[in-house]
Amino acid sequence: MTTAEKVCAFLDEAQVYYLATAEGDQPRVRPFGTALVYEGKLYIQTGKVKPVSKQLGSNPKAEICAFHNGQWVRVWGKLVNDDRREAKVAMLEKYPSLKRMYGPDDGNTQVLYFADAKATFSSFAAAPETVEL
Ligand SMILES: Cc1cc2nc3c(=O)[nH]c(=O)nc-3n(C[C@H](O)[C@H](O)[C@H](O)COP(=O)(O)O)c2cc1C
Repeated sequence: MTTAEKVCAFLDEAQVYYLATAEGDQPRVRPFGTALVYEGKLYIQTGKVKPVSKQLGSNPKAEICAFHNGQWVRVWGKLVNDDRREAKVAMLEKYPSLKRMYGPDDGNTQVLYFADAKATFSSFAAAPETVEL
């Protein structure tokens, strides 16, 4: 399993993670659920109309955190927009319920992948393990 796959599997199991962005000097955080490994990279999905998308457009630096089964993961790096149709289709195939709200050609659906990213797996029982994505 690659590190991106390992992180994605953890996010899948946790079902919910929290995505932090910056709006100027104000941190913003919200629940997210989408995670996909595509072409070896860890992708998330959002809508271009959302404030989160605008924040990432101004400052791509982001961090996510999820907690599950006594373990938590933090992933940080840059979230890079990928406007390729096939990447959006792959995301919507993993989350068919999103198709009620999003389509690959709607001009709103956005997928972004982590670049220059690291992840740390932590628990109270063991030393943190940091990996590169
Ligand atoms: C469990 C859960 C999972 C969510 N997953 C996503 C997601 O993957 N992508 C997304 O754009 N919004 C998702 N949302 C909705 C966002 O949290 C919501 O639209 C939020 O307001 C976006 O942040 P913003 O208002 O700063 O743009 C999810 C909400 C919940 C409760």
